[in-house]
Amino acid sequence: MTFFSIKKNKLFYKILRLKIVIILSLIVTLNQSDSEGFKKDGEKLFKLHCSACHSVKRGDKDKVGPNLYGIYGSTAGTQSYSFQDRYSSSIKQSKVVWDSKSLDLFLKNPRDFIPKTKMTFVGLRKTSDRNSLIEYLRSLDQ
Ligand code: HEC
Repeated sequence: MTFFSIKKNKLFYKILRLKIVIILSLIVTLNQSDSEGFKKDGEKLFKLHCSACHSVKRGDKDKVGPNLYGIYGSTAGTQSYSFQDRYSSSIKQSKVVWDSKSLDLFLKNPRDFIPKTKMTFVGLRKTSDRNSLIEYLRSLDQ
């Protein structure tokens, strides 16, 4: 190998490394703006489908349904202290923990997932709508 070709090789790897860094940072930025977009859509969907029955700000009063601040990660039927007497016994006994999977199933068809729940909501058909809403609920206490 001549001196020249070694130098050329080094340059090649330098450029390659640079390209990798650029691609990785692009992926990170795209992912971030993606979840931001999800949250915004989620907020709109929440206003449309859920806000008649649920408040989301910390300390706001329960409506027909419990306040949902901090719902992500909590156990079903324990979320709102002031709603304890109004939760259905089926949701309290379900012992479900609200994560992306359980929320997805619940929002798709509440009565299928928790039979006899008091949440009289038909459900959201579109997977992308449910994903956006879940991302929004998740962001509430962050
Ligand atoms: C017609 C009123 C109504 C609408 C609309 C509604 N909910 Fe509910 N929601 C309730 C009630 C009532 C409960 C309590 C259910 C029970 O006790 O079985 C509840 C419970 C919940 C829970 C579980 C709370 C806990 O503490 O475990 C979540 C999560 C939830 N709703 C999310 C939503 C989302 C997201 C939407 C919009 C897509 C929505 N709800 C639309 C009335 C409603």
